[in-house]
Formats: sequence, C-alpha cells, structure tokens
Amino acid sequence: MRHALISGWGKCVPPAILSNDDLATFMDTSDEWIASRTGIKERRICHCNFSDMAVVAARHALAAADMDPMELDLILLGSLTNDSLCPNTASLVADELGARNAAAIDINSACTGFLYGLHIGTNLIRTGAHNKVLVIGGEFISHYMNWAQRDVAVLFGDACGAAVLEPSEERTGLLAAKIGCEADAKYAIQITNLGSAYSRLDDDFRYIDWNFEGQEVFKRAVKSMAQACADVLEETGVSLDEVNLVVPHQANKRILDSLAKRVGIPAEKVFVNVHKYGNTSAGTIPVALTEAVEEGRVKSGDYILTASFGAGLTWGAGLIKWGDRVTPLKESDAELPPCNKTALEILEPQIKRYLARAESKV
Ligand code: UT7
Repeated sequence: MRHALISGWGKCVPPAILSNDDLATFMDTSDEWIASRTGIKERRICHCNFSDMAVVAARHALAAADMDPMELDLILLGSLTNDSLCPNTASLVADELGARNAAAIDINSACTGFLYGLHIGTNLIRTGAHNKVLVIGGEFISHYMNWAQRDVAVLFGDACGAAVLEPSEERTGLLAAKIGCEADAKYAIQITNLGSAYSRLDDDFRYIDWNFEGQEVFKRAVKSMAQACADVLEETGVSLDEVNLVVPHQANKRILDSLAKRVGIPAEKVFVNVHKYGNTSAGTIPVALTEAVEEGRVKSGDYILTASFGAGLTWGAGLIKWGDRVTPLKESDAELPPCNKTALEILEPQIKRYLARAESKV
C-alpha cells in the first residue's frame, strides 16, 4: 500500500511581536487576564501579505525534503485570510515558487485547514492520484481583527507552516484521520462582513465584527477533539502509551490541558507554543510540528497525535507515524522582507479605526 511520508516541514513567523502589555495600551485588558485565561504571552503581526508567509514556509519545507517545486503536482493551502479569492491564493504561491506542474487549491475550514489538507493530500497520494503534495496552513488573522473586541482580539496571531508529502512504501505519515463539522453550531464563531452574503450597501461594510461564543467553543473543542483522538487510535490500533507526542491546535493552554486530561495523556507529552504565537488558526499545527522537530521532540518513527477544531465548527484528529529522518536534507535562507515597524505601529491605522467606531456607538 502507498503511504504519504512527511518529508519536509517549515514555518514562517513574522518578526513583529505584539505582547499582552502592548494590547493593554489600547484596550481594557491585562497580561494577567490573558496569560491566566489562555496561556498566551505574545503573538506575531504580519507586515506583508499572507502569501509571502506561505511562500517562505513552503521554501523551508521544500528544502527540508530537497524537492524542486517543479516536482510538486498539488498545492493545498488551508487559510481563511487569503490574499485574494480570485485568483485563489494557492495559485499565487504556486507561481511564486515556480511550481508549474502543480494544481492549486485553497481550503477554507478555518483552524482545521492544515489538518483537512493533510488528510486530503495523504489520501490523494494513497490512491495514486497525486505524488508530491505541498500542504500549507496559516493565517493573516490580524488583518481581520476587530481591535475593539477584547474577548477575541487577544487570542489570535499571524503565522504559517507547511509540509511536503511524497509516496512511500513504508507505513508512515498520516496513518488515519477523522474529520467532521458541528454545523449546527456554525455561528459560535462567525466573522461578519466577509463574503457575498453580506450587503454591500451597509454603511459598516468595511468593518469586521466577530460573533464569538468562547465558552461554548471551548467545551465543544475539548469534546470533539478528544473523541476524534480516540477514534484514530482505535482505527490504527495504536495505544495511548505508544503515542510519543501530541501536537494539537494551539488555541488556549487551558484547552490543551483539558484535552490531555480527557484523552488520558500526560501533559509533558503535549507540545505547547501558544504562549509565543497565540492562536494562528490553520497555522498552529504546521508551525508546532516544525518546532517540535527543530527542538528534538520528534524521533525517528514516533507516533504523533494531532487534533484541531475551529469555525464551522470543524474538528478533526490524526495519527502520524514520523519517518526515519528528523533533520532537513537542505536549508533554505528564505525570509520575509525586513520589517521596520513595531507591531503596534503596523496595526495603528486599524486600531484607531475600530476604537473610533466603538466610541461613536456608545
Ligand atoms: O480556534 C478556535 C477559536 N476559539 C477559541 O479559541 C475559543 C475558546 N475559548 C476560550 O479560549 C475561552 O472561552 C476565552 C479565553 C475566549 C474566554 O475565557 P473564559 O474563562 O471563558 O472567560 P469568559 O468569557 O467567561 O469571560 C470572563 C470575564 C468577562 O467579564 P464578566 O462578564 O465576568 O464581568 C469578560 O468580559 O472576562 C472578561 N473578558 C476580559 N477581561 C480582560 C473577556 N475578554 C477579556 C480580556 N481582558 N481580553
């Protein structure tokens, strides 16, 4: 049987850091509240386009696999904050990489975009329909943030990660995945004024608002991810004790703790980087996976459990058997263009606009 080896991995985190204290300069919040409720200390703010981050992450992943972009026959890009809808952003990335032989598809399942893409790409390789697939997940969520909504604005950040898949006869890569959607709860996370269903005659058209039922999402996230984890373990016959590392979606440290408890896995086996980046939506898993490898947390042949949830409410889990190699075959020097502004300076026009609007509504 054909499997889909994860042969390359890479990330792009923009350099501008927005700390909890930075947020407290313009909204009624505090480092104490944010850190204790979410575990987040800081997040990154993108100073260029989302596709720039995607290309940098992709170049690192391709170098790690020592793969020429011309070898790719499919690019799957998970994001809801694309540069543009037409042309789709996967095609922008394909062009910039010079991936002339690749089909290019955007996947919008919000935070689960990378896991959904990994599942689709793996199965297209398994069936023989595709051979070399680049899966990207990331977000430029700061662009769509309402900076007057403190219950949402403190949670998110910008970043992107990528993985390269290629066929293997070894039992490796994503062994099983379970994905789904609690569509009845779709409005528990809703970003308004994006999409063709919203009236263009509305005076508020330029502004984004979030409907966000944090506690409801929290409960559903833990429950659905834990069940999906149990399902993939059962399907693969791999026991909890055999799982070497859990690399879950990084939305909130308390969610990660609750998930570990519910699944029955010790906290030290759970990879955590939410304190550095906040919730980067589709970016969390590929960035965390890349950092787990870079930090030596992943060994040859390890079983890695991953799980995600997000708007939709989409959810999923997957069990990965890592390949033999934990070091990149080559290095890339790809990086974003230099940034000469602080995160607060980058965001200043947006923050002013949202605060003025909130003020005018009081
Ligand atoms: O990837 C999918 C994305 N979804 C998520 O990550 C959501 C998951 N949910 C969560 O992470 C948590 O529910 C939150 C972090 C969003 C909220 O934590 P919580 O412990 O459920 O807090 P809460 O909503 O019960 O709010 C408690 C209080 C409220 O004040 P009152 O009504 O008790 O007076 C809020 O107004 O905290 C207040 N609050 C804040 N205070 C300071 C809400 N946001 C803030 C803030 N700073 N940023």
